Amino acid sequence: MQVIFIFAGEFAMCPMPELEKDISGVLITEEQIREKVAELGKQITKDYEGKKLLVISILKGAVVFMSDLIRQIDLDTEIDFMVVSSYGSGTKSTNSLNIRLDLSRPLDGCHVLIAEDVLDSGNTLSKVKNMLLQRQPASLKICAFLDKPSRRTTPIDVDYRGFVIPDEFVVGYGLDYDEKYRNLPYIGILDRRVYE
Ligand code: IMP
Ligand code: MG
Repeated sequence: MQVIFIFAGEFAMCPMPELEKDISGVLITEEQIREKVAELGKQITKDYEGKKLLVISILKGAVVFMSDLIRQIDLDTEIDFMVVSSYGSGTKSTNSLNIRLDLSRPLDGCHVLIAEDVLDSGNTLSKVKNMLLQRQPASLKICAFLDKPSRRTTPIDVDYRGFVIPDEFVVGYGLDYDEKYRNLPYIGILDRRVYE
């Protein structure tokens, strides 16, 4: 029988010229991502010991982070998804949040953790949080892989944070520009000529 060994390191070396031509620099490497996600998973496992967890991802950006994160959480864990779009920027109430795909279950009594790709202005996430709190979960926390605090216009508490990053437009690891670059395995800075 032939045994084939696949080393993750080799994939890390795999060049992606089609996507990388638009990347001006690597902000966070695959290795750094792996270490950070393991760290977050360990902390979450410890904090929720003995509890059942429901991890919610807001599609599509957080799907890559979420799928890595749950594999580092040693708890009885379920997952669910939402698709939302936010109307306007100055509106204050949750009814300006349009739910395009709702969760598949009620939240009463659940320990909910929202996995978010990047926290920018905080507008969308604060609306989602308020809306989910009305469904009376046992607890609700937020885990943001990236945080751009300099862009915040709506204050929001983040319970778990991967990396604090500067005000740059980044792509990869689930994050897109015009639906592209989500499959880049690291966080790269998108070259300004692509969008300016
Ligand atoms: P906000 O916090 O309501 O402003 O929205 C955050 C959303 O904006 C994220 O979930 C991303 O979809 C998107 N976003 C913000 N910054 C970036 C970025 O640097 N790259 C890709 N998407 C971004
Ligand atoms: Mg997005």
